[in-house]
Formats: sequence, structure tokens, C-alpha cells
Amino acid sequence: MNNERKILELKNKIEKAEKGGGDKAIEKQHQSGRLTARERIDLLLDPKSFEEIDKLRTHTCSDFGMEKKKFYGDGVVTGYGSINGRLVFVYSFDFTVIGGTLSKTVGEKIAKIMDMAAKVGAPVIGINDSGGARIQEGVDALAGYTSIFIKNILYSGVIPQISAIVGPCAGGAVYSPALTDFIFMVRKTAYMFLTGPKVVEEVTHETVTAEELGGADVHGQKSGVTHFTYDNEYELFEAIRILVGFLPQNNTEGSPITVCTDDPARRCIELNSIVPENPNKPYDMKEVILNVIDHACFFEVHQDWAKNIIVGFARLNGMSVGIVANQPKVMAGVLDSNASVKAARFVRFCDAFNIPVITFEDVPGFLPGTAQEFAGIIDHGAKLLYAYGEATVPKLTVITRKAYGGAYCVMNSKQLRGDIIYAWPSAEIAVMGADGASKIVYAKEIKEADDQEAKLKEKIEEYKEKFANPYLALEKGFIDGIILPEVTRFRLIKALEMLKNKRDENPPKKHGNIPL
Ligand code: HXC
Repeated sequence: MNNERKILELKNKIEKAEKGGGDKAIEKQHQSGRLTARERIDLLLDPKSFEEIDKLRTHTCSDFGMEKKKFYGDGVVTGYGSINGRLVFVYSFDFTVIGGTLSKTVGEKIAKIMDMAAKVGAPVIGINDSGGARIQEGVDALAGYTSIFIKNILYSGVIPQISAIVGPCAGGAVYSPALTDFIFMVRKTAYMFLTGPKVVEEVTHETVTAEELGGADVHGQKSGVTHFTYDNEYELFEAIRILVGFLPQNNTEGSPITVCTDDPARRCIELNSIVPENPNKPYDMKEVILNVIDHACFFEVHQDWAKNIIVGFARLNGMSVGIVANQPKVMAGVLDSNASVKAARFVRFCDAFNIPVITFEDVPGFLPGTAQEFAGIIDHGAKLLYAYGEATVPKLTVITRKAYGGAYCVMNSKQLRGDIIYAWPSAEIAVMGADGASKIVYAKEIKEADDQEAKLKEKIEEYKEKFANPYLALEKGFIDGIILPEVTRFRLIKALEMLKNKRDENPPKKHGNIPL
């Protein structure tokens, strides 16, 4: 074969590879409202930045007539490229090739990409649209999955790992995304479950659709498995690009810093009046966050799950930070099991990747009751305690109003190695709210009074005067200052600058035993 023919041969193979499962399969994919593996990569990465790897690999199975069903690249497109000029690795399951199922080859292609990403220290983004383990390959497919899981585990906390769920994702296939840091899901065309509707019906006699069992809203609102939910794939891939901008490339880099055009000393006058006089009246903590951060640009994580706590990424004077904030507007901002787990996982992510954590606190305590106790709130609350306590990144807290009871301890208190704790003048730092505390502390006096109601009122006022303020905690050094709400942005930025070279270490150990 002369050179010209050799080149032509290669060109033909490349063309075939880029067609995946062929025109018909691509048409079917589009008709189902889904993009192809390559179209997705194009949306995710900077234009023309994608470099493909293993483009012409094929599977090696010859059982069940599979030797006649070979496609270049097999069921996944893998490679690297950039997002806003920063290196990322990507693998995108190709549903047009045997349902994007996982063969030995597909498993090896993905594992190769993950190893490269870890070696050079860059994020990995997996785009999932797959029928799961390729049945014809039997245990080879299972081994392929497991070799991906182990890499997800070993590289957890080393490089950011992100999953997009844009098609079916069933069986063992859900465990790789579950092991990654963030899951993005699209409505209507994607679902995740361990066992599909048919098995569910057989085993539990429950009739349920795929969407009802494992659609994006189920995981975005009920299970919390999904961190971000979008109406279409275009929005989803744009959102991944935004998230990557907040993250360092790997665990040896500091939090990314961009040029900031929002005045660091900008006063937030509206914050002076945001906390209502009545301590039982709610307000929106998101307004506090939006006022303080650069350009009101907040990238919220888990927006639709456990809304009594808010977590997400923002920038302060250009530096990427993680925000954790109680939300008085939802269930008075109380901490329950889901809120504790949501915030704990977020704090641990930030700590793993050197992103400072800023906490806005207004929390009446942990939610009491059998439902929460039976759900294991002791363990779940302990997760949050553990996460804050073990974190060595810069940790700042602003107590806007209530810091009651165990929740005071948990929400990055001084004793959990909080670096700088500020309170607004409206802060109430105490074991519990004035009403409950007065009934206990002054029980005898109230019982003996002629007008018990009036006595209770009087005692509540007395308690409020004495304890429901930030000054006692300040006297004892448990908080570092009481600040005007309007200067919160400036004071946080100053504290972050001061903590830029913070060094803190935990005692040497193999690893701790977080109450899972
Ligand atoms: C081999 C598969 C396959 C599989 C789909 N295909 N799933 N081939 N192994 N697991 C093939 C189909 O035969 C078809 O091939 C092509 O992919 C497209 O599939 P369709 O069924 O035509 O597409 P659609 O109607 O859109 O349905 C998609 C689907 C369905 C919902 C994903 O295919 C399905 O339910 N598949 C089985 C899912 C499953 O149970 N997977 C195994 C999970 S167990 P042709 O040639 O006709 O185009 C598992 C264990 C892992 O993953 C454990 C790890 C720890």
C-alpha cells in the first residue's frame, strides 16, 4: 500500500469513528431529545480544544456474534481539552454504539484518562448515557466498572471529579457518578437508579415510571444524589464550565483567584436592616450572601434539596470561596439530617481542594422529634461537626442572628478551629432561645407568681437582655469581633487576605473515622 492509500485508509477510519454507531443511531439519539457523545464534548470544552485518545480502539469480545459488531472507539469517546483555557479530561459515553454499554475496552479507555488526569493534576468530567454493563462481555464488563470505581476512590480529593447524567444510568453504572464530587442531571431524558421500574414492580409490586423512580427532580429534590438539575443539555454543560472556574486543578493548588472589579470595601448598607426585630420572623439569607460576594454571583449547589441550609461557590475579591449558610426562610434554618449531610459534604470538598469556607449563621438548633432521631440525626449532625472540625482551610463565620445550642458548636465555632468569627449586633449566642430557657431557668419563680403569664414575659425579657446578644461571647473571646453588617464584605476580605498563608495540620493518622 502506498503512502497516499495509507493516509486515505486512516482518514476513512477516523471518519467512521466520528460517526459512532452510524447515521441511523445518531438520528435515533437526536429523536429521543439527546445529543451525541461528541456534540456534548463540543458544548463542554473550548472550541477546537479537544484531543481524542484511543479513537480507533475496538472491543475484543467474540461471544454472541460480537465480532461482527465492532465500532471504532467502542462505546465511549475519551480525551482532553480545555475549559476557559484550563486543562480538563473528559469521557463521554456514546449511546449510539451498543447503547453506550461498558465493555472491557470502554473500561480501559476511561481508566487510562483518569490516570492521566491524576498524573498531570487536572479535573475529570464523565458524561454518562449508557445501558450499563455490556451483557455479552460478562465479568469483563463488571471488572471494567470496578477498575473505574477504584480510580474514582483513589483520586477523590486529588483531582475534582464531575459527572453529567444525560441519559439512562442504571445498575452498577450509578456508582461511579456517586463516587465523584458533583453530579449534574438533565430533566426528562436522564435517570439514575440501582434497579429499574420492572424489577421494582416484581420485587415490591410498586408501579413507577423511570422518571418517578430516578429522574432529575427526584434526585435533585428528594434523595439529594444530584447536585445540579437543568432543563436541557446546553444549560447543563454551560453550568459545568462555570463550576470548573471555581475549582483549583488539583489538591496541591490554592483556591483560584480571578481579577475582581467589585470594590472590596463596598459597603452593604441594606444588610443593616435585613434582620427583623422579631427573632421569630424569617428573612432571606441568600440576600445576605448576594450582597457580600463579588458581583452577586453565587453558584449554588444542591439548590433544591435541604433548603434550610444553603451551600455554594462564590468569589470574594476574586478568590474562590465556599459558602455555607443557614436559611431562616426555610424551617427557621434549623439543622436536620439532610441539611447536616449536605453541608458536611460541601465543607469536606472545599477542604480537600483548599477552598476557604465562609459560614453565615442563624440557626435555632437541631430539629427535635422522633422522625429526626429515628433517621439518625445524631450521626448526621456529627458529620457536620466532624467536617468543620477536621477542615484546615481558612474558616470564617458571621453570626447574623441565632447561634443556639449544639448548632452554635457545629457551625464553625472558635472551638472547632474557626479562624475568625464575627457577629452582627443582632446576634444571639446562647444555649437556647429566650422563651424555652426562661421556662426552665425561672420555673420555680414563675410557678409561684400570682400572674404566671406576666412573670414569664418579664423573665423572658430579663433573659434576652442578659444572654440574647453577642457581648458575652465576645468577652470570653469566643467571637473575634462584633461588626456592622454593612462592612461584612470588607471584613471578610481582610480576614481572607490575612489567612492567605494559613498552615494548620491534623495529627498524623491513616484516616479518621467520620460517622458515616
Ligand atoms: C448489551 C445493550 C445493553 C446492555 C442496551 N443494549 N443495554 N447491549 N448490554 N446492558 C443495546 C441494545 O441491545 C440496543 O442494541 C442498543 O443498546 C440500544 O438499546 P435500546 O434498548 O434499543 O435503547 P432504548 O430503548 O433507548 O433503551 C435503553 C435502555 C435499555 C433503557 C438502557 O437498553 C435497557 O434497559 N438496557 C439494559 C439496562 C441494564 O439492565 N443494564 C445492565 C445493568 S447491570 P441494538 O443493537 O439493537 O442497537 C450492571 C451491572 C454493573 O450494569 C455492576 C457494576 C458493579
